[in-house]
Amino acid sequence: MELDILKGFGRLSTETETAMFRIVQQSLANIYRHSGSHVAMIKVRKNAKEIIMRICDEGCGIAPDILREFESGTRLLGVGIAGMRERTKVMKGSFHVSSSTGGTTIEISLPVTENAARKFHGV
Ligand SMILES: Nc1ncnc2c1ncn2[C@@H]1O[C@H](COP(=O)(O)OP(=O)(O)O)[C@@H](O)[C@H]1O
Ligand SMILES: [Mg+2]
Repeated sequence: MELDILKGFGRLSTETETAMFRIVQQSLANIYRHSGSHVAMIKVRKNAKEIIMRICDEGCGIAPDILREFESGTRLLGVGIAGMRERTKVMKGSFHVSSSTGGTTIEISLPVTENAARKFHGV
């Protein structure tokens, strides 16, 4: 597993960190269970407005019929990809999945939000 994150990235709001943790957890589980990929790469960046995270593998890709369900939003149930999409939507972020026989990429963006408690305690 390869993680690309800049030194001194800092902390995010609890809500954002939790969402990112769940998305990473589900994505790595998918890569392990379904992709057959020998690599998993996570890249995290942020700017003043948003956090962008990309998780990709070099596996077999999501079957086209399943991918179509995700793209059209008709696959509603599940804690997996449908759950990631729902979670980012609730947080006013964006979610995108692209997949081919060369592998799968999940890209999310989440708005930067303040964490009142963390700010107050200065940690
Ligand atoms: N990284 C991946 N590589 C290949 N196929 C994938 C990947 N992630 C998901 N899939 C396919 O999409 C389906 C749905 O994934 P998900 O929503 O996480 O549900 P689940 O993992 O419970 O089956 C999987 O069953 C699998 O067929
Ligand atoms: Mg899954």
